[in-house]
Amino acid sequence: MDRIIHPGGKISGVVEVPGDKSITHRALIFGSLCEGEVLIENLSTADDCAATIDCLKALGVEMTSSGTNLIIKGKGLMGLQEPKDILDARNSGTTIRLLAGLAAGQPFYTILTGDDSLKSRPMKRVIDPLRQMGAVILARKGDTLAPITISGRKLNSIDLTLPVASAQVKTAILIASLYSSETSTILELIPTRDHSERMLRYLGAELTVSGSTISLRPSSLRAKPIFVPGDISSAMFFIVAGLLLPESHLEIRNIGLNRTRMGALDVLAEMGADIEILERGIRNDEPFGDINVRSTQLKGIRIERDLIPSLIDEIPVLALAATQAEGKTVISGAEELRVKESDRLHGVASQLNKMGADITEVPDGLHINGNTALRGATVESFGDHRLEMTMAIAGLIARGETTIKDANAAKVSFPEFYEILKQTGCAVDET
Ligand code: S3P
Repeated sequence: MDRIIHPGGKISGVVEVPGDKSITHRALIFGSLCEGEVLIENLSTADDCAATIDCLKALGVEMTSSGTNLIIKGKGLMGLQEPKDILDARNSGTTIRLLAGLAAGQPFYTILTGDDSLKSRPMKRVIDPLRQMGAVILARKGDTLAPITISGRKLNSIDLTLPVASAQVKTAILIASLYSSETSTILELIPTRDHSERMLRYLGAELTVSGSTISLRPSSLRAKPIFVPGDISSAMFFIVAGLLLPESHLEIRNIGLNRTRMGALDVLAEMGADIEILERGIRNDEPFGDINVRSTQLKGIRIERDLIPSLIDEIPVLALAATQAEGKTVISGAEELRVKESDRLHGVASQLNKMGADITEVPDGLHINGNTALRGATVESFGDHRLEMTMAIAGLIARGETTIKDANAAKVSFPEFYEILKQTGCAVDET
């Protein structure tokens, strides 16, 4: 389906976005390993999380859902069953990498695969450390690409320096470490999102963090309720729309405010954005609150390597914000974006340039000249949810209509995106 975005006035009102995708994946997987029943509240509606649910059901986990609440009958660490068929992670990097860590410690055989995009994304980063722990793993193209076959077993502990700044790799190894003989340690050279550490500790795991080193002693997990705050990465599309569309005022409620995910808010604040953050509480060690946004003239900024993991998923929409800022924005140390659901550096530069932006792609980032008036165009999403939603927000601030070809990917992380856009006063048609 193509979508036509009509440029439009202001965006206003109160917005609630669905539960955080990263926290939901962890709640589903860790919940399945608890002893007893786990209630998850405000589950993400993302297709990626549905992939994790289906894989866990194939591993013998029973779940019942009611709206966005879900009850998992935890199986304990050793209660999973060998799946009868290949597990399909679809488009979800988090699903395949976290489940690779889980499968490595099981006394059975598992095959993990995904869609064409996922089958082209790097898997060696999880395969190598899991092999070091004693798992027997094979994969396509010299053991680098899915499908991945895993013959699980009791694992050895590991002392690992993370080869890439990736929370998915860190979490895969943390899960495998629950199945090892002794304490494992993971050293992070650049901090990445720490939802796994918080949730494991909340569920009773013996996990400590000292400086940049995480230590986990194999421990059982106790069933406790888990609340999932709203997804800050989904909220960011509305935050940027609120900043760029004149006379806008948006209030976005119940959003996760974990520091390791707030890089984009920090960067926007430095760009001069009129954003107010009201922390409302902490549940299962995850802070959450409300965000108020008013239209602002932004200024250009430098975004460097150390900050990238804290805003990795927000770079496409931040690049759009930079096209409207005064002066130049330079994003560097962001080559990881080339191995996401699509090559996001190329995707965002090529499609925004079609609309009149002035973005130069460099191997590890983008150079963006600001204050460029965008005009409507026909653009591609490359089947990538975050590029598609970025192009929709670009369409709102452009002069003339924008058509996004094959715009069916938003549901991967944010199925309600277009509906909420319409509720806040924006005009979108489907053809
Ligand atoms: C995620 C971590 C990030 C992020 C992805 C979700 C997670 O990936 O891009 O959308 O839930 O751990 P990497 O850790 O591979 O950078």
